[in-house]
Amino acid sequence: MSDSDTPGKPRRSTQSYGKLDKDGFIHRSWMKNQGLPDHVFDGRPVIGICNTWSELTPCNSGLRELAEYVKRGVWEAGGLPLEFPAMSLGETQMRPTAMLFRNLLAMEVEESIRGNPIDGVVLLGGCDKTTPAQIMGAASVNLPTMVVSSGPMLNGKFRGQDIGSGTDVWKYSEAVRAGLMSIDDFIAAESGMSRSRGVCMTMGTASTVSSLTEAMGLSLPLNGTLPAVDARRQALAHLTGRRIVELVKQDVRLADILTREALENAIVVNAAIGGSTNAVVHLLAIAGRLGIELALDDFDRLSRDIPLLVDLMPSGRFLMEDFHYAGGLPAVMARIKDRLHTDAVTVSGVALGDQIADAQCYNDDIIRTLDNPVNPDSGIWVLKGNLCPKGAIIKPNAATPALLEHTGRAVVFESIEDYKARIDDPDLDVDEHSVLVLKGCGPKGYPGMPEVGNMALPKKLLEKGVRDMLRISDARMSGTAFGSVILHVAPESSAGGPLAVVRDGDEIAFSGKNRSLSLRISDAELAQRLAEWQDSRPESEYTRGYAKLYIDTVLQADQGVDLDFLRGASGDQVDRESH
Ligand code: FES
Ligand code: MG
Repeated sequence: MSDSDTPGKPRRSTQSYGKLDKDGFIHRSWMKNQGLPDHVFDGRPVIGICNTWSELTPCNSGLRELAEYVKRGVWEAGGLPLEFPAMSLGETQMRPTAMLFRNLLAMEVEESIRGNPIDGVVLLGGCDKTTPAQIMGAASVNLPTMVVSSGPMLNGKFRGQDIGSGTDVWKYSEAVRAGLMSIDDFIAAESGMSRSRGVCMTMGTASTVSSLTEAMGLSLPLNGTLPAVDARRQALAHLTGRRIVELVKQDVRLADILTREALENAIVVNAAIGGSTNAVVHLLAIAGRLGIELALDDFDRLSRDIPLLVDLMPSGRFLMEDFHYAGGLPAVMARIKDRLHTDAVTVSGVALGDQIADAQCYNDDIIRTLDNPVNPDSGIWVLKGNLCPKGAIIKPNAATPALLEHTGRAVVFESIEDYKARIDDPDLDVDEHSVLVLKGCGPKGYPGMPEVGNMALPKKLLEKGVRDMLRISDARMSGTAFGSVILHVAPESSAGGPLAVVRDGDEIAFSGKNRSLSLRISDAELAQRLAEWQDSRPESEYTRGYAKLYIDTVLQADQGVDLDFLRGASGDQVDRESH
């Protein structure tokens, strides 16, 4: 009953639906309660559509409708589409942080794909953590796989101006705290910021990930940038449905596309678009699933001398709609093609270089030329030193140039609660040269490594006109955020990393040029402090369930914050029947 091209093994769906015994009856009969006639079980490719639609993930709220377009394409190409839900992670809604659950969604996706009789899968995601989690889970099964993203919201609008998701939230909230904006205006901006379905329309984590997915060849061209409500995204979903059926027939698996070269392309593109720091933990985790040796240092090495070409918030001025109309990612990749592996295979069946060969740029203000970049040196800087033996990162595009070489006295907060209680205390011993240090916000500590690294500045300094300070933590920051913020310090303080023993008044030296971050105390004193260190945080409330499993097994930021036992793959074959 199968026309599988894989020698030896019939298709996964045929292993279930093609049987003429009791097991085949069970697999088919219950599916027929959905109105499926006999002939759809004739050995055609069965395509799972993994949907993270949810009303609690507003960024993914268009995916229910988009799935219908994928199905049209699958039917048209002679496949059988079957949609299934997966846990949805709403970045703006979930406590303590959606990142805590990325690996849980990855587990769910992996087991849903692996356990069901499907031959290929289309991943529907958008909001920050959903797509990385889906790719991680799918990578551990390795079926033919394609991604359709939610797409960005329309540009935000407020009082005749374009405003950007997230980026302007941080600005407006500081303006309210500094007494420069009324609460009424603040709430009016809230309504204008998110005025259509879709993901954050700045170059935040969601648009970063959808762009990198396109760069890695896992989606059709323009998936990264097409606005969520643009009819061409529906057409892209339709074409994806057609194409995944072909990929199953040709047995082109996810790992055939997602190679080391594809990951390197993603790192280079991330620099050129001014992408989120969160790309670091997601790409490292994806590589870990595929057994690809990718290291934190690769981000610094591969993005050195890559110019920032895309003038989007938070690093620049424009928004995703503008970026798309200017030509989108193909236009960017065409400009840096010398730094890309252009022979990388994509799901479209065309090598990346051929795919971008005719790409046009329609607006050089938004997608800059190489001789007029937003910033000549973009990307992620990876720092080393006695304060971060396993590394830390900073996004120089988001920072104040003068703070990229800075030495100052530490003002230390032992936890996020300690920070919130004291940051606006008029007696806090802090000035604009101080270095704000936040502990307890790493993967294990918070738990979940939240986006709090861009901690707001002390009110008394905001009132003096200070707009940026050097900040250091084991947390992440939102891809929509900006500031001179050193993130992902590893090992984290709650795992006994040196960050744990920084004290008020210690001198901290940061040199961006040298990629160094050090605590200016002697080796002997550091060793003594570390030997004496005890985790003094109150007993964790996370003593059971998934969160306990997470805390016990999560890897540090330099390894992508996956659970240690989830690295690698289980593959797609499950021999035992259910009855
Ligand atoms: Fe969902 Fe930004 S909050 S994409
Ligand atoms: Mg985020």
